[in-house]
Amino acid sequence: MSRRLLVAGNWKQNGTVASARALTAEIIAGLTKSGDGAEYLICPAFLHMAAVSQAVQSSPGVPLQVGSQDCGVHPDGAFTGDVGAGMLVDAGCSYAIVGHSERRQLFGDTDALVAQKFGVAQEAGLVPILCVGETLEERESGKLEQVIHRQLDAVLSTVWSLENATSTSLPVIAYEPVWAIGTGKTASPEEAQEVHHLIRSRLADNAGQISDQVRIVYGGSVKPDNAAELFAQSDIDGGLIGGASLKAPDFLSIGKAADQLMRNGL
Ligand code: 13P
Repeated sequence: MSRRLLVAGNWKQNGTVASARALTAEIIAGLTKSGDGAEYLICPAFLHMAAVSQAVQSSPGVPLQVGSQDCGVHPDGAFTGDVGAGMLVDAGCSYAIVGHSERRQLFGDTDALVAQKFGVAQEAGLVPILCVGETLEERESGKLEQVIHRQLDAVLSTVWSLENATSTSLPVIAYEPVWAIGTGKTASPEEAQEVHHLIRSRLADNAGQISDQVRIVYGGSVKPDNAAELFAQSDIDGGLIGGASLKAPDFLSIGKAADQLMRNGL
């Protein structure tokens, strides 16, 4: 098994065009062009995407991609306020986060809508990053497995057929326990590994072997001082980082942990 670790920054609703451009430049300056480390991804707000993509495209060879934090389900047309998958591709995106818990909780994204976003993104040539994760209440009432299965099955049963997937078109799953997001509380490496294993088993039940190639990243208070231990777990293939991705030194230091693990053959 050799899955390339993914170090992804979710910038959420933060910054200005100028600060997004400056943060991108600082990240680019800190990355090496060698291809034997992790893959990096930054997901700015829609409005900042053009500036960020331009900066990334003018630094060829740097292992950095641009992604979106969400994806509209409609093609071009009368959908005021929405941003479609084609627009994201046009703006230089190659990944799209779907089903982030903030979208599920604050904007009413249901499992069915998330599955639709997943399908539309994939069809447009974007790599979907499907976020799944339980609330504290769900965990404490013993519903962890049920919730993770429900969120995964919504996609597996409709738009994602692993049987037909090739290793280049494989989506990414992000396990983000809601109680660990922005709280400073991180799942322990063992707790996270247990859920990542659960996720991989569910994928394997549906599609067998190819699930070994799917990257499952962890999100929820990933910081420079806990990244190495998390990423060293056998089913944790990198991170989806919120707060710490807004500071280039912290994001780069998290990335170094992933680079190191990759160079040491995990
Ligand atoms: P924090 O790293 O700020 O906890 O956020 C995680 C997250 O939501 C990434 O998508």
